[in-house]
Amino acid sequence: MRRFRSMIVLTLRTVFSAAVVLSTLSACGGQADRSPASDPANANNTPDAATIVESTSAESVDSASLATARGAATALGQGLMKQLLARLETAGADSALAFCADSAQALTSRYQVAGVDVHRTSLRVRNPSNAPDSAEARVLAYLETLKTAGTLPSEFVEVRRSGNGTRELRYFRPVTIAAGCLNCHGTVEQITPSIRAALAERYPNDEAVGYAEGDLRGVVAVRVALPGRQ
Ligand code: HEC
Repeated sequence: MRRFRSMIVLTLRTVFSAAVVLSTLSACGGQADRSPASDPANANNTPDAATIVESTSAESVDSASLATARGAATALGQGLMKQLLARLETAGADSALAFCADSAQALTSRYQVAGVDVHRTSLRVRNPSNAPDSAEARVLAYLETLKTAGTLPSEFVEVRRSGNGTRELRYFRPVTIAAGCLNCHGTVEQITPSIRAALAERYPNDEAVGYAEGDLRGVVAVRVALPGRQ
């Protein structure tokens, strides 16, 4: 019985280290100069070890799935951010805030179609419904390091494979702070008292203030189900 138990432990250990080795390999992907600590793929040996990052290269994704992800990110970006900024210009910040607070979630769900999920997320969220999952949080932290290094890409992809073999494209489009965003995401001095009051009322745990122009605010994150490996 005891021997049986230690066999199980050994097997588990082997599976676990295989997952670590695999994720480390996929993290390298021909880019040996990447720092292991900051690469999101490498952090994969923690709780969700059953899911591994298979690739972080856009070339490894079939073009139709990539086009779907890009299209969804653009549609949400245009549908939401452009409407918000237009409202800001024509009707002012208070009306824009009401629009954003009332319509952002509904507008976002309008862009969800079968097999595709698109939404905005950030390491500092205003609406807790936009909080990142663990994969998104890792990528956001990684993009933050790239932003600091001055090498923020316009998009970032990961192909993830779960324990049961299903594969998924995770597509990320960084969103940075423009001047107009400061009306609602800037410092206390940049946000008018009425906006501040409305924010405090609607979002008591708001973390999305104190940004400066050019800061990385978050990402538009898209998930597309991929066909399994042949
Ligand atoms: C008029 C106020 C206002 C302006 C201007 C504004 N936002 Fe927001 N922003 C909000 C509100 C309200 C939410 C929460 C909406 C929701 O429920 O998703 C939000 C949420 C977000 C989120 C989702 C993550 C989170 O914190 O919940 C991102 C990303 C974001 N804003 C980026 C921007 C960017 C980039 C700009 C400028 C292009 C901008 N915002 C301008 C009010 C504003």
